[in-house]
Amino acid sequence: MAVPVDDAAPAAPTPPPGPPPRGFRSAELGWPRLDRIPHPPRRVPWLGDVLGVSVRTPVQDSMAIGRRLGPVFRRKVLGKEIVFAWGADVVADLCDESRFAKHVGLGVANLRPVAGDGLFTAYNHEPNWQLAHDILAPAFGRTAMAAYHPLMLGVARRLVERWDASERAGEAVDVPGDMTRLTLETIARTGFGHDFGSFERDRPHPFVTAMVGSLTFAQRRNVVPPPLLPLVLPRAARRNAADIAYLERTVDEVVRARRAAGVAGDGNSDGDGDLLDRMLATAHPVTGEGLSDENIRRQVITFLVAGHETTSGALSFALHYLALHPDIAARARAEADRIWPDGAEPSYEQVAKARYLRRVLDESLRLWPTAPAFSREALADTELAGGHLVRRGGWALVLTLMLHRDPAVWGDRADDFDPDRFLPEAVRARPAHVFKPFGTGARACIGRQFALHEAVLVLGLLLRRYDLHPDPGYRLRVGERLTLMPAGLTLHLTRRPDRPGA
Ligand code: HEM
Repeated sequence: MAVPVDDAAPAAPTPPPGPPPRGFRSAELGWPRLDRIPHPPRRVPWLGDVLGVSVRTPVQDSMAIGRRLGPVFRRKVLGKEIVFAWGADVVADLCDESRFAKHVGLGVANLRPVAGDGLFTAYNHEPNWQLAHDILAPAFGRTAMAAYHPLMLGVARRLVERWDASERAGEAVDVPGDMTRLTLETIARTGFGHDFGSFERDRPHPFVTAMVGSLTFAQRRNVVPPPLLPLVLPRAARRNAADIAYLERTVDEVVRARRAAGVAGDGNSDGDGDLLDRMLATAHPVTGEGLSDENIRRQVITFLVAGHETTSGALSFALHYLALHPDIAARARAEADRIWPDGAEPSYEQVAKARYLRRVLDESLRLWPTAPAFSREALADTELAGGHLVRRGGWALVLTLMLHRDPAVWGDRADDFDPDRFLPEAVRARPAHVFKPFGTGARACIGRQFALHEAVLVLGLLLRRYDLHPDPGYRLRVGERLTLMPAGLTLHLTRRPDRPGA
């Protein structure tokens, strides 16, 4: 394994006390012995570690580099140096909430022009994070989830209608496109009572196009300093401004319609309805404070984006693997037939009983965690496994994609798809913090149960109804735009024999 180190690099000066500065913090500021951390062998002056990598696949390139360099490594691109971590010991340290917290930097900070101090992009110290978290957490509890279930089923029925039509016409289905339709409609209906009409459109809804546009543009902030973007990429910057304006207009319209309907904030609501109802009508139980209009706008955008993009990828990868492994699909289907024997639609409680399907989903999220990395920063000077020193404010990117394939934890065949890795006894035998598709700690995913319920429900419904046939020429290609998605994935379907209600 090549482990280049810089000879006798000088220790960086200790940063001044006070809150860590915002904006990008290069690794020299936080890692006094950066010289001990390997980087790719051939650094190009000024450009950095760019040989053999592509701007389109930064995460997969980092995984390949991580395999060569080991559990802690660094990459420098255009003067920005980043420390990556994927070894189980080091990640366990980084997940220790008494020493580390979420770091809002890089890809997440780039989203601030769109999502501001919404839950996902808020800095830990911003008061709106705690306020919104406390107001919205009950919207993901058991009672709320049970109320979303019939709405989720309703959206899934529309997907099935679309897939039935494709099956009758002998056409392949566009898996990522249809999973995006499904998950966008699901979060829009359950969260905000809104219908984007995605299933009635052949092309993606303009909201999706604007969202993809602004996510792609956000990535460019990694390469070009934000103040220079309008000068270097004037057309893209104008397009981005139009995309953000469109997202904001759409959200404002959703909020206006709800206010006009008088559902919340009119004195008749106790704010225990959907997400929007809670945002508009609920006050903090202790302080009595509510969310401002501007913050509600940020939260609605956050939930519409975070609530569908990652789940659609997870469903798409799971369908890819189910189509490739008919034996696994048959086991999952037998379970679905057993839980819903008469072909009736699954009840809320029955979805949680689909343990094997859940393992299929976990295994898909292990191989392709659709949010492939998260960042952690040190709360005080500390030392990581392996003797790496980190200063307060120093941060690392946890490469979940590689953590989930660490051969020391997952074995020699870590790249193989095997849902039985998630049998309860296998899970118990593994150390903590080795499976992190939903992040960690206080800033872990608030929508985890929502995503899991939706995905297991939909996979069960689809498997009961169709046999899935892969395109024999298809080789998995993974697209990256903050989240991961199988690119160009299509499947052929055949209807299974009709059973009552199926
Ligand atoms: C398979 C699907 C999903 C995956 C893999 C996923 C993954 C993640 C991860 C890794 C984080 C932490 C990011 C960080 O530390 O920087 C996160 C946070 C978040 N997710 Fe998800 N997510 C999924 C579905 C959802 C859904 C369905 C919703 C909403 C309905 C949602 C809303 C959020 C929000 C609001 C946060 C920020 C939480 C906070 O900081 O307080 N996610 N998600």
